[in-house]
Amino acid sequence: MKEAFQSRFGGADGVRVFRAPGRVNLIGEHTDYNQGLVLPVALDLATLVAAAPSRDGKLRLYSEQRGELREFDAAAVPTLERRGDWSDYIVGVARELDRLGFAIEPANLLIRSTVPEGSGLSSSAALEVSSALALLGGRPLDRLEIARLAQRAESHFVGMPCGIMDQYVSVFGREHTAVELDCRTFQSRYVALPDGIAFVAVNSMVKHALSGSAYADRVRECAAAVEALRARFPEVASLRDASPERLAAVSLPETVARRARHVVSEIARVGRFVAASAAGDLAGMGKLLVESHRSLQHDYEVSCGELDFLVDTALAIDGVYGARMTGGGFGGCTITMVTQEKAASFSRQIAATYQARFGVTPRVLPCNPSAGAAECAPGAC
Ligand code: GLA
Repeated sequence: MKEAFQSRFGGADGVRVFRAPGRVNLIGEHTDYNQGLVLPVALDLATLVAAAPSRDGKLRLYSEQRGELREFDAAAVPTLERRGDWSDYIVGVARELDRLGFAIEPANLLIRSTVPEGSGLSSSAALEVSSALALLGGRPLDRLEIARLAQRAESHFVGMPCGIMDQYVSVFGREHTAVELDCRTFQSRYVALPDGIAFVAVNSMVKHALSGSAYADRVRECAAAVEALRARFPEVASLRDASPERLAAVSLPETVARRARHVVSEIARVGRFVAASAAGDLAGMGKLLVESHRSLQHDYEVSCGELDFLVDTALAIDGVYGARMTGGGFGGCTITMVTQEKAASFSRQIAATYQARFGVTPRVLPCNPSAGAAECAPGAC
């Protein structure tokens, strides 16, 4: 990173490098913005930001992947507008930091990422969190605040009304463990996964145009369910407070009822999955993954033909316990739980079958739960 920074900006005095990972969610989909439970892991795919002070009052952002440079007056950050490109994630973070009283110092930033974009592995959270650390430049800020400001940047500035899961696990991820997060209290605990199994992400390589607008539609549909529930049960603050009995007691439009049923059943599945994992009940874990997928496919309607094909194909392959789409949906990745010794043959088989069906080679990624965001030791990145 230091060499690349030097050749881009002509000097690397005072350069520091910060890293934040992407994530894959094991179970608990579309529950975070309903104050529910999620169970993501941080990946070993990450975004790196090398940063050093600039002497001319500018904030410069260089994306290696795109080969694009953006330049702003650092003093103008609080009034910058959305441009509709990758720099919005960083400017949004800078504005949130400024609001919290961390003035944005003039700096040059070089950005490199191994998190594939548009694949549902949260390249955006990795970019937000790594740039938050780089812009802070060592100024201390509570780690939960870092996750929350990154989420606000995405929902308020970029305009994607996401929950907290991606940013939280990018900050708090840990090696060999999943993170069970309660999105109502922001309390989490680390969940060790049973030995002998692997989680493999398969990237469908598609991203359907619907993903952005449909996400906002789902957020609105969940809000509509809460409003209807509250008329009958005033203590309901979110779908976290709903239950199958409460849903049955109110009259909801058919679509809204199915959305709410997904959220309520999915929150319960996270708890059941963690319990099955603790008991070493691998078949039970696999079954819950499939139930989650069917609920996302039929009730929440955020899957697509390619993801359904990957799940159905996976379930017929030797050594597989279960599979589901992961992330926002409408493309991106599935995640498959497979016995460790069959992980390689599963990967080959699923890639070949998908290629034969869609003429596209999917990217298959073993998911190694990894550490959350941090500054890299000098010379390590
Ligand atoms: C996207 C959002 C997350 C979460 C998932 C669905 O990744 O950024 O906050 O809502 O979709 O679980």
